[in-house]
Amino acid sequence: NTLSKIQGLPAELLLHIFSHLNPLDLSQCSMVCTRWAGLARDPSVWKHLYPSRWAKGNWQFGASVHLPEDIDMESLEQDNDVYVVVDEDADFDESASSAIESDASNASVASYRAECIRREARMLVAMAKYLIPHVGDGVETIILSNSKGVTNGLVYKLLIQCPNLQYLNLSETKISDIAFKGLGKNGVGSKLRHLDLSGCVNITDTTLQRLASIRQPLQTIPDNQMMDTSNYSKPDYQHGVNDKNGRPLNVDPMVSNRDQGCCSRRHNETQHDTDIVNRRQQGSCDGGCHGNNSVSHSQRLSMDTAPRTKSHHDGRHDRSSYHGTGEYEHADGGNLSRRLQFLSLSGCYRITDVGLGLLSQGGGWPNLAHLDLSGCLNVSGAGLSLLADICPTLNHETFYYCDNIEEGPYADTASGCQNLQCGNRVCCRLGE
Ligand code: FES
Repeated sequence: NTLSKIQGLPAELLLHIFSHLNPLDLSQCSMVCTRWAGLARDPSVWKHLYPSRWAKGNWQFGASVHLPEDIDMESLEQDNDVYVVVDEDADFDESASSAIESDASNASVASYRAECIRREARMLVAMAKYLIPHVGDGVETIILSNSKGVTNGLVYKLLIQCPNLQYLNLSETKISDIAFKGLGKNGVGSKLRHLDLSGCVNITDTTLQRLASIRQPLQTIPDNQMMDTSNYSKPDYQHGVNDKNGRPLNVDPMVSNRDQGCCSRRHNETQHDTDIVNRRQQGSCDGGCHGNNSVSHSQRLSMDTAPRTKSHHDGRHDRSSYHGTGEYEHADGGNLSRRLQFLSLSGCYRITDVGLGLLSQGGGWPNLAHLDLSGCLNVSGAGLSLLADICPTLNHETFYYCDNIEEGPYADTASGCQNLQCGNRVCCRLGE
């Protein structure tokens, strides 16, 4: 009877209880009854996904790590020679097609590692197939750093099916540009605040181009809500201050101009890893107004290219554009959908100035504070300056690039290359 009482608890209470369970517990709860199965797949309890960690036996949702003593995680994660290929259309238990290559000298250790990797790959396939379609809307964090089982196809699916994804870590994986081919389509990636691609040596300028294409999806407004206006007021919503040529100026008083040279450029030995800040503190004006808020579209302009305002009840305005067919888009949609605060391309040595130029297009990166281009051997001071110029909130202490680049931006205050300390990523000074 105790069980029946528990099963009869209100959904809200059960969801609250489920929110304290780990993925393994949730999967077991989902087998109790149909009702519990539905609640266990509620998006609200699957905000943060750590597939690699789960595959290694640590079923935590949070940051604390308690590993089984018999697992040597460090050696496992540093073993770059073991990979696994899994048929993405296979069911969770169908692993016969997996192909494993290993050059590890110890056969048993290699076998154990390969099994861990295979388990991870199967878990990723199962998640993409059975879990993400149900919970994708609630997913905010995916950590796949050092994953040997992740594939381009899986990342593509995750990006498409997790429209509210804010934090994505794919560092030290073999993914390439194909994984990001969905970016920018129908708002895919528009919520991203943290993107870590450090050590992803297959990434090229194509990914930067796709990153620059991120936009909010257009919102359709019924014509009966659009009215002519005679009292159009200029928008008061700005992301930054522009100079006389329209280029954004540095508005952070803590960030000095490149010519000021207030302190010496230095190596920073600590790894700066910016968490998602103020994840839940987004005002409706930073893009949330696309949702189901009660926006009053009180103004309509003639069919020109002038920006329009979208009024909130509290009197704030957004800059937007009318496309003539009921479509309504933020005029600075690039800015509003560009929430990226952290971008690491450390060790992505295939990136060139062309990619930086592409990334610089489309309205700038008004929130970018951390930019790591350590080990990007094919970029120059000119390309870096082009990008830095459209990042008004860039923190110089967390702006990393090669020490040997001459005339780079903020030469006196930016940090140097981090990869010399890192050891396993590309750096022009390795071996010195
Ligand atoms: Fe030049 Fe590291 S890439 S110092």
